[in-house]
Amino acid sequence: MEEELMQIKNSAVSMIIEATDQKELEEIKLQFLGRSGKLTLTLKEIVKVPVERRAAVGQLANEVKRVIEETIKNHESRIKNQESKTKIEKIDVTNPGIKPDIGRLHPLTQVLYEVVDIFKQIGFQVADGPEIETDHYNFEVLNIHKDHPARDTQQTLYLDTRGSKSDPGKIILRTHGSNMQGRIMETTRPPVRAIYPGKVFRYEQVDVSHGFEFWQLEGLAVDKNLTLTDLFGTMSYVIKEFFGLDTKVKFVSHNFPFTEPSAETYMSCTVCKGKGCSFCKHSGWVEILGCGMIHPNVLKAVGYDSQKVSGFAWGMGFSRMVTLKYQMDDLRLLTNPDLRILEQF
Ligand code: DAH
Repeated sequence: MEEELMQIKNSAVSMIIEATDQKELEEIKLQFLGRSGKLTLTLKEIVKVPVERRAAVGQLANEVKRVIEETIKNHESRIKNQESKTKIEKIDVTNPGIKPDIGRLHPLTQVLYEVVDIFKQIGFQVADGPEIETDHYNFEVLNIHKDHPARDTQQTLYLDTRGSKSDPGKIILRTHGSNMQGRIMETTRPPVRAIYPGKVFRYEQVDVSHGFEFWQLEGLAVDKNLTLTDLFGTMSYVIKEFFGLDTKVKFVSHNFPFTEPSAETYMSCTVCKGKGCSFCKHSGWVEILGCGMIHPNVLKAVGYDSQKVSGFAWGMGFSRMVTLKYQMDDLRLLTNPDLRILEQF
């Protein structure tokens, strides 16, 4: 009996360790430990063993059972390991992968980089300044004194300064990028060439062409002998570089308190190329910026000698440049985070 048990153990173990898959292992298990398995049947014979040897044989039988079960368990996990390894190795590299979502720059930022590069190439530096501004830099320095009618056009948002040291009504959200003119000129001696892109704020009813916050790209140049032709040349150059050489540019006389003379600048419509369409209200032209020669009062206010230096300044509707470039008919597309729009850039 003992010999028979040892034989069962040896053949079971050698079969188990040669099994190559789970199914084979199950069959071996059944063959030895199942209800009519070899070991089970042998165990049933134990009663026939003489009493004095029965305990020892029983012990051996239990040991054989334990070894078989343990070997099966170990080999089972080895097979599982092997299977998962071969699964990894079997990756079909020709299958299309899962595309990761890739972030990208907002269209405003993309256009900003493009325009800034154009200005940098012609010698302009980039400046940045506060969005919360004083009445002084937003209006006073710019020759827009208290009660000046030009203040009405600026739909100013005032900050509640109660409980602070500031005078009521003196702290505002900047209404235009021109607030930077005083700040830059006060701290820099001519020659100066600077652009300062940024957000501005007005108390506006939001619709397709108005927002309470929008981007402007302002700039100025101050040097000896700068004239209107320098201004017109610079603006035409930048517009043509950005929108294409076939773009037409025209300057129409205007009035701003901080420039004299002043002009509004129009360019041929990007949609109809000047023929007239609903985008340009059938005029063939779209307004793109305001500009002019810096008023002597402004130069004086920042401590420049208006007899020795002259300068020009402009303010571009920068959000407008983006909508014109991509022919978007709604300004709100730039401020609403809608992935269906943003993923197109
Ligand atoms: N600040 C003006 C506005 O927001 C735009 C402007 C016009 C800026 C003429 C200038 C300028 O620097 O010279 O409507």
